[in-house]
Amino acid sequence: MFKKTGIAALTALTLSAGGAWAAGAEAHVEDIAFSFEGPFGKFDQNQLQRGLKIYTQVCSACHGLQYVPLRTLGDEGGPHLPEDQVRAYSSQFEVFDKELDDTRPAIPADHFPGSALENAPDLSLMAKKRAGFHGPYGSGLSQLFNGMGGPEYIYSLMTGYHEAPECAPEDFPGSYNAAFAAGGFPESCKDDHGGHTVPGSWIAMGQPLWGDDVEFDDGTEATLEQSAEDVAAFLMWTAEPKMMARQHAGLVGVIFLTLLSVLLYLTNKRIWAPIKGKKTH
Ligand code: HEC
Repeated sequence: MFKKTGIAALTALTLSAGGAWAAGAEAHVEDIAFSFEGPFGKFDQNQLQRGLKIYTQVCSACHGLQYVPLRTLGDEGGPHLPEDQVRAYSSQFEVFDKELDDTRPAIPADHFPGSALENAPDLSLMAKKRAGFHGPYGSGLSQLFNGMGGPEYIYSLMTGYHEAPECAPEDFPGSYNAAFAAGGFPESCKDDHGGHTVPGSWIAMGQPLWGDDVEFDDGTEATLEQSAEDVAAFLMWTAEPKMMARQHAGLVGVIFLTLLSVLLYLTNKRIWAPIKGKKTH
């Protein structure tokens, strides 16, 4: 029974791994060493504040963060803004108050607004949704083995805009992006095996970041790569604000279980010592 289950599990793993690698070959995703990776990883507060600034000044024109409560901007382990700044930040958004039957400036108890542009997806959970790079179908194995996931994908998406390849017709609507695999693909860029001749595909979002889009308060230079990394880290935080607490709890759990195993081993030896040590004749 166990053997069968084992084999089934192994097959499932190999199959999905094959799928992930095959899918990975169609899009270009770069590995980034984010501060929050690994069991000792932490969100970098300054990076989250820079990412928030980019989201606010660039992405929020189209994308919402409707699942994120504004008050969490003050949380420790997050951007950790002082209370008065959280209040001031919140008040720039308008929310509809059912009791007032009117709009009013948002307060920290409200959430970020939803997307302003209908076909721009909400970004609250995007970093988790794209953990396997290719939407809900991704296996996430690349994340497990290489520490690559949603934030890497978002970074690669932001830096993946290139001139349209030669195979593209001139009137193709949208922009060519080497990391975006889910978009439309012109016939002329398809190869004989149903794949593409170039990585990525076309995306309805025009290149949002170019470098120097915002000015960072901490003096960091806002290059395209830096901005892409910062906004990706920020979106990881919106998707999993408690990641650090969870990782640390996991680590404590592992240490605790290791200690417990050692103690049990020693106790076991002790209990059986008189019997094992006894010679029958
Ligand atoms: C002018 C409007 C606009 C702006 C500004 C904008 N986006 Fe988008 N974004 C879109 C649209 C539209 C889509 C859907 C694209 C598609 O499905 O082809 C999209 C899709 C996305 C996706 C999902 C890609 C996927 O895998 O489905 C991510 C992530 C994203 N945007 C991040 C950002 C970030 C980060 C910023 C700010 C730096 C930003 N966007 C700024 C319009 C915008």
